Amino acid sequence: MKTNKDIYILGIESSCDETSISVVKNGRDVLSNVTNSQIDIHKLYGGVVPEIASRNHVLNIDLVYKKALELANLSIDDIIAIAVTYGPGLVGSLLVGLSFAKGLSISSNKPFIGINHIEGHIASNYISNKDLEPPFIALIVSGGHTNLVKVNNYNNFKIYGSTHDDACGEAYDKIARVLGFEYPGGPKLEKAALNGKLGKFSFPRGEIKDKKYDFTYSGLKSHVINVIHNIKQKNNDKIDDQTISDISLEFQNSIIDSLVDRTILLANELKINKVAICGGVSANNAIKDALNKKCIENNIEFYYPESIYCTDNGAMIGSAGYFEFMNGNISSLDLNADANLEFKNKG
Ligand code: KG4
Ligand code: ZN
Repeated sequence: MKTNKDIYILGIESSCDETSISVVKNGRDVLSNVTNSQIDIHKLYGGVVPEIASRNHVLNIDLVYKKALELANLSIDDIIAIAVTYGPGLVGSLLVGLSFAKGLSISSNKPFIGINHIEGHIASNYISNKDLEPPFIALIVSGGHTNLVKVNNYNNFKIYGSTHDDACGEAYDKIARVLGFEYPGGPKLEKAALNGKLGKFSFPRGEIKDKKYDFTYSGLKSHVINVIHNIKQKNNDKIDDQTISDISLEFQNSIIDSLVDRTILLANELKINKVAICGGVSANNAIKDALNKKCIENNIEFYYPESIYCTDNGAMIGSAGYFEFMNGNISSLDLNADANLEFKNKG
């Protein structure tokens, strides 16, 4: 039911290869979330091709927008503000969403709110967990970022851990590619690991001296790639399915250890009894199961987004936009796209 008090935010996400637009009510209820994925196009090239991504955003964004309003059964007049990702991401892709949002903001005379993509991922948990309120620890694991954050309130957080090299999803995708999986390889590697047998390989757990909450995946990645190349060299450039599964399982276990140990340590040290995972890699069931198990052992409540809100989506931007709007944070129309937008402490 529509009431005068409800705040409808249009959330627009186009930072990488998904054109996604959503209508979110009061920060938590998704009335529509329409996504046009370009995965089938980019997998032909083994990864996202920036120029092709921007062109496809241009082709699709207006249709996605119209569908999002139609499914929400609302018109642009009902929307209170327009939220859009302005970074980090591919600059050409970001510019399509940002320019579209600015045009809409001017033509409809609605406030315009620029959102940091990573903050959007954190907000995905507010959609799937209606009772989740800060403070909590957020573990952000995506194709571009790996962070451990204390969320103090909806507009205030502190970063405790970051990766020094590859992001978690990036490591998944690179190993998956060497194992022969199509882009994006993370989900395929997870599936292969289900048939893996333990004990055939032993892979390192990366640590950064004196930075107990920081992550590093470059050592693990190089080690696993070397192992795969050595196996292929001895077998006429071939690797059998069982070996692929065994490597996938041990690689994933190394990732799981890196994520679970640090998250539980931070939650215990800060005496926070809620942990929420988010970002594309949070679609991984093995990671969620391991984290959930450790959370139960430590009396910590565990939260995660539904799988459609793990990977990039407009709804998480609409949710983050709501909390910015309620805090009075409106952006100026001269806000530019920022491919390398920093993720830094807020509040
Ligand atoms: O958040 P996202 O959609 O885009 C970025 O902001 O980067 O994350 C995409 C990443 C990709 O690296 C993809 O392989 C990974 O999330 N991913 C997974 C799984 N599903 C998606 N990684 C491991 N297991 C999965 N099930
Ligand atoms: Zn993302």
